[in-house]
Amino acid sequence: MTTPGIRPLVAGNWKMNGSLGMAGTLIGDLKARLGQGALPVDLLVCPPFPYLGAVAAALGGSAISLGAQDCHAANSGAHTGDVAAPMLADLGCGYVILGHSERRTDHGESSATVAAKAKAALAAGLTAIVCVGETEAQRNAGEELKVVEKQIVESVPAEANAGNTVIAYEPVWAIGTGKTPTSADVEAMHRHIRALLKQRVTGGAEIRILYGGSVKPGNAAELMAVAEVNGALVGGASLKAEDFWGIAEGAARSAG
Ligand code: PGA
Repeated sequence: MTTPGIRPLVAGNWKMNGSLGMAGTLIGDLKARLGQGALPVDLLVCPPFPYLGAVAAALGGSAISLGAQDCHAANSGAHTGDVAAPMLADLGCGYVILGHSERRTDHGESSATVAAKAKAALAAGLTAIVCVGETEAQRNAGEELKVVEKQIVESVPAEANAGNTVIAYEPVWAIGTGKTPTSADVEAMHRHIRALLKQRVTGGAEIRILYGGSVKPGNAAELMAVAEVNGALVGGASLKAEDFWGIAEGAARSAG
């Protein structure tokens, strides 16, 4: 089960959803649940850029970490509309999601771009959550291991280690669709990613590998119990405190 010695991380990717009011309510509810008894998992919320400051204030001193959903590869400069990694660190972010499939698709981000962003994030003291995952066509063609291997090789910078990098395996066809791979397929992919990390980066045996794609309270415990699954990157279900907490409880059961 999971990976002995690695504490799970349950991360909420709010994407372009929510409002200032919703953010306050959600954080308040999560803090109240945390107050009733901590779980043996790390919790992270990644709101849209405009809400980071307010969420940082709302989190104030709680055990829930704050992250962003992207950053630029440069530390400053003429990049209208972009946000630099040191700015995120300034706001109290500890993490940044990079190379999510929606960024790779909507903004044409290549793995080289993701690696450059990850380098900037690490230099700013952030932990980079590097996302990888195959499309449905690639899986149907039996190419999923090869595709994800290439993404890992090209997106994870040489400076990566267990303290500054998390990998999120998110099959594109499972994101927001309600579909999930079988536990056997998740295990095969996570074992492959673990082997690559061990070969390529210092401390690769301890880097957290999250599963993402239609994680819900009802399937979290089963998915989180799979070998080499060290937590979840949660989209839709992270927008409701009850669901996000339910997933954290599922991860806790599997870790325990
Ligand atoms: P989902 O999204 O949980 O809504 O499928 C996951 C993600 O894109 O990170």
